[in-house]
Amino acid sequence: MYELLTLERGDDGVAVLTLSNGKINALSGALLAEIAAAAAELAAEPPGALIVTGGERIFAAGADISEFGGPEEARAITANFHAALDAIAALPRFTIAAVAGYALGGGCELALACDYRIVGARAVFGQPEILLGIIPGGGGTQRLARVVGPSRAKEMCVTGRQVAADEALRIGLADEVVDGDPHERARALAAEVAKGALTAQAITKRVIDAGLAAPSLADGLALERDAFAEVFATDDARIGVASFLEHGPGKATFTGH
Ligand code: COA
Repeated sequence: MYELLTLERGDDGVAVLTLSNGKINALSGALLAEIAAAAAELAAEPPGALIVTGGERIFAAGADISEFGGPEEARAITANFHAALDAIAALPRFTIAAVAGYALGGGCELALACDYRIVGARAVFGQPEILLGIIPGGGGTQRLARVVGPSRAKEMCVTGRQVAADEALRIGLADEVVDGDPHERARALAAEVAKGALTAQAITKRVIDAGLAAPSLADGLALERDAFAEVFATDDARIGVASFLEHGPGKATFTGH
């Protein structure tokens, strides 16, 4: 069904979306359409958790520059990026980007559309669009600023410089740096998360994202009040609370409902 990516679902509840568009994994219009289709498939039947990954040397080299033209083409390219990456960001499950190498431009933006980034020691991030005389169009001006703060995001976007793994960790762009293969650690974390209370996880993610987009803290807290009541209607809340009272913390077996 897909030609430029693979989507695998494991027995541990973890789905792995791997970009597979040649050596540099350019995020062409065709690859973005496949990412959007894969996200729709995952939304229709959510896994326990999702890992998004690319090549060992190049996670993704960004938009396919050979597809660039004038403002009209640019509008289509940014719309395709937003459709695909928003669909990944909106998945009701914890998503982890496992980044071993270069995540530049749209590659960095795809990693930012995931909930969490586990990176190898050779990972390199950057928004190099300015070196082409353009700006990020895959969410970079917005998601990067939310993750690393506006001043660092502006500095990265106006210089287009590359950020190595250790700095990425320091500024919060990477959440974990591992010596070995980032996929191993991503798989272990994803498998642990996949065994958890999935509906409550989905509500958690939804409320955090909606709260960050809300105009005020009071609006965000109002969202939390509604969500806190909502989660008590789940089977998992009943199972989790009963298990705690009987067996202590961390022993519940959840159904995801
Ligand atoms: N779109 C289209 N083609 C790209 C590309 C992109 N985003 N990134 C690299 N390529 C092409 C190169 O032009 C080159 O083509 P060629 O073999 O026909 O000359 C080929 O891929 C290999 O790239 P090269 O730079 O020689 O490989 P490298 O291993 O030295 O470096 C990168 C890899 C990813 C670090 C480097 O290619 C790079 O910085 N790419 C641009 C990233 C970028 O600006 N992204 C934002 C786009 S808006």
